[in-house]
Formats: sequence, C-alpha cells, structure tokens
Amino acid sequence: VTTRRPLIAGNWKMNLDHLQSIAFVQKLAWSLKDAKHDYQTVEAAIFPPFTDLRSVQTLLDADKLELELGAQDLSDNDSGAFTGDISGAFLAKLDVKYVIVGHSERRTIHHESDEIVASKVAAAHRNGLVPVICVGETADDLEKHGPSAVPVAQLKAALETVPADAEIVVAYEPVWAIGSGQAATPEQAEQVCAALRETLAEKLGADQASATRVLYGGSVKAANIATFMREPNVDGALVGGASLDTNEFASIVRYQN
Ligand code: G3P
Repeated sequence: VTTRRPLIAGNWKMNLDHLQSIAFVQKLAWSLKDAKHDYQTVEAAIFPPFTDLRSVQTLLDADKLELELGAQDLSDNDSGAFTGDISGAFLAKLDVKYVIVGHSERRTIHHESDEIVASKVAAAHRNGLVPVICVGETADDLEKHGPSAVPVAQLKAALETVPADAEIVVAYEPVWAIGSGQAATPEQAEQVCAALRETLAEKLGADQASATRVLYGGSVKAANIATFMREPNVDGALVGGASLDTNEFASIVRYQN
C-alpha cells in the first residue's frame, strides 16, 4: 500500500499584495509552529500572486519555514517576446516548487485550451516545477455528461506531455463548487478522484498512479476538510477563499487534530 503524503494547498488567487503577504505568512507560520505542526505528516503550500513570490520566498528562507511555495500559472515558453507572461525558469529561481496549471478561471477567463494546458505542464517539468493540474466540470457538463467525463477528458489531454516518472499533482475542482459555498459531497469527490486515478494508471502506469496525489477543491473549509480526507482517493485540498484567513487555513492544514 502506497502512503501518499497529504497536501493542503492555498490558492490566494488575486488577493494580498506583497506587504500583506509578508504579514500573512508570518502569522500563518507562527500559528502552525505554535500548534507544533508536523509538515512531514501533512504538507502545506501557499500560492500567492507573482508579485508576492520574492518577498514570501525571502521570508521562508530566512526563517527556515517548511511551508512550500507555489505559483498560480506560468507561460508555456521559457523566454522571449511574450509581454506580460512569466517563465517557469524565473519561478524555479525563486525556489517555487509547485505551479497551478489549467485552473478553471484560466480556462474560462483566459480561454486556455487543453492544448495550452498540456504545453504548460511540459514547461513546468522542463523547469523542474511540479504542476498542479486542475480539472473539473461545470454544472452544465455535470447535467449533460455525468460526473467524471469532463474531468477525465481534461486530465487525459494534460497528460499528453508528461514524461515517465515526472511528479504531478492533480486537483479535481468542480466549477459549480468553486467559491459557491456549496462543496461537493465527500462521496462525489471520491467518485471523480477515483476515476482520475484510474486515468493516471492507464496513462502513466499503476505505480505512478498510486504515488500521485489527487486533491479536491471547491468550498473547502475547516468545517468540512476532515470529511474529504476520510475518502481513500482524496489526498488533500486546493483551497481558495478559506486560505485567506490564517486561522482558518491553519485549521485546514491541521485537520487531523
Ligand atoms: O483553486 C482553489 C479554488 O478554485 C477553490 O476556491 O474559494 O471555493 O475554496 P474556493
């Protein structure tokens, strides 16, 4: 039996400027330290906006904090005439470990196709970053195609570029549950996360499928995290709104207590 280390990831989206991020991370790190949080048991990562990364990285480094750093997006190119884009190479230089790819807000607002998502997954690996590949269906998709069809198809497309044994994290985020206060039920999350793991096994082999963490995201909070974590195929959470409150996020990270 493979034991996957749970990952609790906070996606700040476009919130907290670099000054606010410093105060926030100090407070979060202190409350986890006070609670003697064991990062080996549950990994915790934060995904601030690009302009905060340098400040947060300096702080984590200076205080030897074990919180991991992630970015919310990257370019599929490494350098050149791509005004406004951010290279995975730049992120790697800032000790960024994870990068979100294919978040539904990027798929919708920035019209990112499955091909772009696959190309960004490749850019992440090329630069030594671990992509957190987001997939999820809209309410309409759910009605038309049932629970797993769209997330599975999105994952298959994103896996096109994944080299054997490259680390990935998958996040199942039903679009109807994001920011709505209406989370999926743990049973719904488990059903889709299990289907995603089967897809991983088909595409990457059984070993990699059982080593890969599959997260649930969508209105996760301190009050419901433990119910998701009881499901065998849910290995953590990608948290939006509730990651912007230090006490709430610390309680989610410490769901076992
Ligand atoms: O990436 C996390 C996110 O989309 C979920 O947001 O606010 O429903 O936790 P929220």
